[in-house]
Amino acid sequence: MHPVMEMRDVEFAFDQKKILDGVSLRAEQGDRLVVLGTSGSGKSTILRQILGILHPQRGSVFFQGQEVAKLERRQLSQMRGRIGMVFQYAALVSSLNVRDNLALPLEELTDKPADEIEKIVDEKLALVELTEAKMKMPAELSGGMKKRVGIARALVHEPELILFDEPSAGLDPVTAVVIDDLILDLSAKTNVTAVIVTHLMQSALKIATQMAMLNEGKIVAEGTPDEMRASSNEIVQDFLAAAGEKS
Ligand SMILES: Nc1ncnc2c1ncn2[C@@H]1O[C@H](COP(=O)(O)OP(=O)(O)O)[C@@H](O)[C@H]1O
Ligand SMILES: [Mg+2]
Repeated sequence: MHPVMEMRDVEFAFDQKKILDGVSLRAEQGDRLVVLGTSGSGKSTILRQILGILHPQRGSVFFQGQEVAKLERRQLSQMRGRIGMVFQYAALVSSLNVRDNLALPLEELTDKPADEIEKIVDEKLALVELTEAKMKMPAELSGGMKKRVGIARALVHEPELILFDEPSAGLDPVTAVVIDDLILDLSAKTNVTAVIVTHLMQSALKIATQMAMLNEGKIVAEGTPDEMRASSNEIVQDFLAAAGEKS
């Protein structure tokens, strides 16, 4: 069986600047793969490669065994329908209430009947514990609630893979923990495969089944959270120290 997502030796540069320099990653069914790196290290670029928004200049990216760069436009948009994306900034439509933000992709991209759409919206809102916010406008929501709406929206198409860009960054520490717990809970309830990019070691250690440390375009260390805790890699050590995991 092929992994759900695999990157093989991916190189990517903007202009002359090399961002990814031989990155290999894989996420098997049910994994929560966390890519950890500082700001500007290329984390969002990795997610854009998986979605086929950017293509590698060398190496390849696979989704369910299919090479993303080889898909035709129609196949690419079909593939994107099988991947949920949770953006760093919730990216909700501010003129639409929560219900409509979730229903919109279903109304626009599927021919599902109205009652089924309503059922899906209710089910996904329940999954992120936001049932009571269904008719609220984005402006009425806290940062954590907006994130949860973003997660619910990424789930409406029953994705095989869900991508999270910095899910707990920019939130207060208590809300950040709530979002981490929610990711664990979703993963347990739906068994969806997840690729999460973050600069927060504490969050990574908590939610990952597998971790990879990205530094200067390369994966410099990888393993389970316990293996990362025991890693002698200097970058990993710095991140652990910053997270208060080492003295
Ligand atoms: N469209 C672009 N054109 C040129 N450089 C870019 C573009 N997008 C990102 N970069 C650069 O690529 C590097 C990695 O960006 P990004 O993947 O967004 O990092 P991260 O998500 O880890 O903060 C950064 O140095 C950024 O300035
Ligand atoms: Mg980013």
